[in-house]
Amino acid sequence: MGAASLLRLFEFPLLAIETSCDETSAAVIEGRKVLSNVVSSQVAMHQKWGGVVPEAAARAHVEAIIPVIAEALEVAGLQKSDLRAIATTNRPGLVGALSVGVTAAKALAYGLRIPLIGIHHLEGHLLSTVALETPPPFPHTCLIVSGGHTELVDVKEPGVYRIIGQTRDDAAGEAFDKGARLLGLGYPGGLAIQNAAKTGNPHRYSLPKGLSGDTIDFSFSGLKTAVLRLTEKEGPNLDVPDAAASLQEAIIAVLTERAMRAMDQMGSTALTLVGGVAANLGLRSRLTQACEKNGYGFYAPPIDLCTDNAAMIGLAASTRLARGEHNDFAMDVYPNADL
Ligand code: KG4
Ligand code: ZN
Repeated sequence: MGAASLLRLFEFPLLAIETSCDETSAAVIEGRKVLSNVVSSQVAMHQKWGGVVPEAAARAHVEAIIPVIAEALEVAGLQKSDLRAIATTNRPGLVGALSVGVTAAKALAYGLRIPLIGIHHLEGHLLSTVALETPPPFPHTCLIVSGGHTELVDVKEPGVYRIIGQTRDDAAGEAFDKGARLLGLGYPGGLAIQNAAKTGNPHRYSLPKGLSGDTIDFSFSGLKTAVLRLTEKEGPNLDVPDAAASLQEAIIAVLTERAMRAMDQMGSTALTLVGGVAANLGLRSRLTQACEKNGYGFYAPPIDLCTDNAAMIGLAASTRLARGEHNDFAMDVYPNADL
């Protein structure tokens, strides 16, 4: 089968819901087209505690879910009766948070008598590139970098994935978040580090890259310890923009090096970059350059499809619905689940 024909999509309007962590999101998708993608963030609430509090997250989803779905339909200019399927993230994530999206999805699918489908959150990230004007060919290699995951995946075709490299401890997003907290830049850390780094010197402080040798795995816990030591050693003399730029550089360098090694090992010709950390402009430009130099295609979704959103869940659902897949109403939520 040709690469283009591997990407078959459900060509009717579907509503997608994402509530696995701290964003309540609903989107309307038709084929590859994102008709709406509404995201209500709980960031302001979680900033008070420096992270996500599961009980509080679930309650905030309960409050937001109905208005967010209504807005997604309104922006798309559609009525509930125009929908032909309902998709929701059902794994992995915070169990209380996931349950809110799954319950809403079941109620809608039942009331409208249309198919229901549960999607793995990482498959959503992985297929977020389907929205691109020119989507990536299959097979390709995907670098998923989020708050909970750092994985290199061999993507044979939609639905057929093999993890070829992963972090042995913290995720890349955690390295940004923990580093930002140590530097007093707040939560969530990725964007704060990116902004602080703008005026900083990325070569001022030397930070470890984790794991040496010919590996395509990652380790970011040493980086967090090194930033802690740096703040202790420098005290009030620490230059925060330089430290942010150095931390960002350490993360970008290791992600780029491992991604290029994976491409080489797999004999792959196209790389996709997805997940919240894919919003990082420095990382996007470094991988663009590295892929150009090696003659690889490079694909990253628009910034608003990088951090958690329902549109990516709808895109993944679209590929599964096109293959005739759906779930019944006994569909459960799974806090832990492999891709
Ligand atoms: O995919 P995502 O929204 O949620 C998870 O599934 O985990 O990823 C969130 C992560 C956070 O760690 C956040 O700090 C990071 O993505 N992030 C960034 C940027 N924007 C968000 N990291 C680096 N640069 C950014 N601009
Ligand atoms: Zn995510």
